[in-house]
Amino acid sequence: MADTKLITFKVRRYDPDKDTAPHWEEHKLNVHDGMTVLEALHEIKAEQAPTLAWRSSCRMGVCGSCGMFINELPMLACQTQVLHLNTDVVTVAPLPNYDNVKDLVPNLEPLIEKHAAIKPFIIHTNSKEIDEPTGEFIQSVEQRDEYSQFTFCIKCGLCLAACPTVATDPLFLGPQALAQAYRYTVDSRDCGLQERLVALDAFHGPYQCHMAGACSQACPKGVDPALGIQLLKRTLVLDSIGFGKKPSQLSKVMPLADVVKQIEEFAPPPRTVIK
Ligand code: FES
Repeated sequence: MADTKLITFKVRRYDPDKDTAPHWEEHKLNVHDGMTVLEALHEIKAEQAPTLAWRSSCRMGVCGSCGMFINELPMLACQTQVLHLNTDVVTVAPLPNYDNVKDLVPNLEPLIEKHAAIKPFIIHTNSKEIDEPTGEFIQSVEQRDEYSQFTFCIKCGLCLAACPTVATDPLFLGPQALAQAYRYTVDSRDCGLQERLVALDAFHGPYQCHMAGACSQACPKGVDPALGIQLLKRTLVLDSIGFGKKPSQLSKVMPLADVVKQIEEFAPPPRTVIK
């Protein structure tokens, strides 16, 4: 039997049918090397807290459903080993910046709605060619590398939980949707920027990003949404200049010169990042 270490878990509980406010519960558990926070929660539920609720599925960092606030950082519970946290006390709470459905379950509807708002799919002007293609949509390796790393997003929502702008402006589209807007807009097969401007050229769009970079630190898949947002700003500014007009919402947020200065500091996206 492998060595174990006694760990205290402080788990935030909230049942909207019974509680007027969240409260903390303590559970002690012998944790073995390699045990994840998700596995620890399963043991706590089986032995000590049968009504404890959370959301999970794949247990392998793919489905994106087990995001939690672990020791005050947004992480995937199935991808976080308890002993790697190097502490005797582990706090587990629902993701911040989302409404709390129950215990550790956040309401991810805003994440999905914002994602849908930027039309996360290839938009082609020639619908006949889409319906009855006469050939392939050829793309070079260099063209694919323009957006490749952003395809690793699993929509776990950790980036929104980490974002200080979302914390003060719940309507801000946020790093997940904005990075995906860049991913599709920069795709050489896509012609959808004008359609996406309804969501992007808006007060709660990319110019509200304060460049804190917390989203990129939180991403469990090595995606850099903060970079995607800055590159999206550059795309929007250059596209608007190309059309001979200033972005309509941009001047309400910051001077154009400041935005140009910001985007000039960012290099093109690196090749696919794998952690
Ligand atoms: Fe699927 Fe954690 S359970 S990512």
